[in-house]
Amino acid sequence: MAGRILITGASGQLGSRVIDHLLSSLNVPASSVVAGSRDPGKLGDIEARGVETRRVDFDDEGGLAAAFDGIERLLIVSTDALDGAGTRLRQHKAAVSAAKAAGVGRIFYTSMPNPEDALITFAPDHLGTEEAIKASGIAYTIFRNGWYMENLFMSLPQALASGQWYSSAGTGKIAHIARDDIARAIAAGIAGPANGNVTYTLTGPEAHTTDEIAELVTAATGKPLSVVHVSDEALAEGMAQAGVPAPFIPTFVSFDANTREGKISMVTGDVKDLSGQAPRSLRTFLEANKAALHA
Ligand SMILES: NC(=O)c1ccc[n+]([C@@H]2O[C@H](COP(=O)([O-])OP(=O)(O)OC[C@H]3O[C@@H](n4cnc5c(N)ncnc54)[C@H](OP(=O)(O)O)[C@@H]3O)[C@@H](O)[C@H]2O)c1
Repeated sequence: MAGRILITGASGQLGSRVIDHLLSSLNVPASSVVAGSRDPGKLGDIEARGVETRRVDFDDEGGLAAAFDGIERLLIVSTDALDGAGTRLRQHKAAVSAAKAAGVGRIFYTSMPNPEDALITFAPDHLGTEEAIKASGIAYTIFRNGWYMENLFMSLPQALASGQWYSSAGTGKIAHIARDDIARAIAAGIAGPANGNVTYTLTGPEAHTTDEIAELVTAATGKPLSVVHVSDEALAEGMAQAGVPAPFIPTFVSFDANTREGKISMVTGDVKDLSGQAPRSLRTFLEANKAALHA
């Protein structure tokens, strides 16, 4: 494999796993990998494996020329700036411009499923980034990452405690995927031969309704969990009463609306095609992580 690889967001949960899979699962030499973070001081473990670390902050456009110098393959891990003020798209566009100026050979980007048509409040960040990458003329591989199974840890502990899971997702389905299965597939996509411009949608092996997920949770934990089907408005009201900060509520409700309208029900074989390994099922994941559900 020619050229060096830079993984941005290397201290984050996904970025760190991608680097681990490059080194451990795919035996990419550490000298071919560069780990980028706003705070390289957090990358001691990665550095100890022989990986060069660099400061990468998309808010520091002036610093990106040095950060991307000599890089052939660049993974832009989407940031967590969800302020609704366009920050994330601006950050990603700065990264794409700097990649162009630095002569990066291929951009890899962590997008979301169906950004053209999704009801998720932050879908325009991903669509705008995909468009900026395409407009740059740089070869690209876009990974449209399905929702992590780990996202369920945000709502399930509370739902299990009360036995009731409020949802406006109706009978819509999602094929959640374990974060580590995404990381493995992305690492394989980066390390493998790349031809042309490609877009993958990374999903779990099976799509489930919220009721089906509740049944799987009960099977894993032995605790009863019933889904209380409500409207988007009632869900928002319940979140406000539960103390969810107001700016986050529209985004959380948009997840359920997006699911209900069938915008994230797709199941693809892209993870297995990329990594050679089928993604784990939700049943297996819940069984292995039931402690995290505080059950
Ligand atoms: N598919 C899903 O279900 C799902 C769920 C949650 C999030 N996401 C998206 O996927 C991304 C990766 O997920 P994760 O689990 O790894 O999230 P995470 O652990 O919260 O990581 C957030 C990432 O954003 C990076 N970042 C923040 N500000 C940045 C900046 N100014 N410049 C460059 N990088 C910046 C951080 O890198 P450093 O701190 O190392 O600089 C870190 O890698 C998230 O950031 C988010 O866009 C997807």
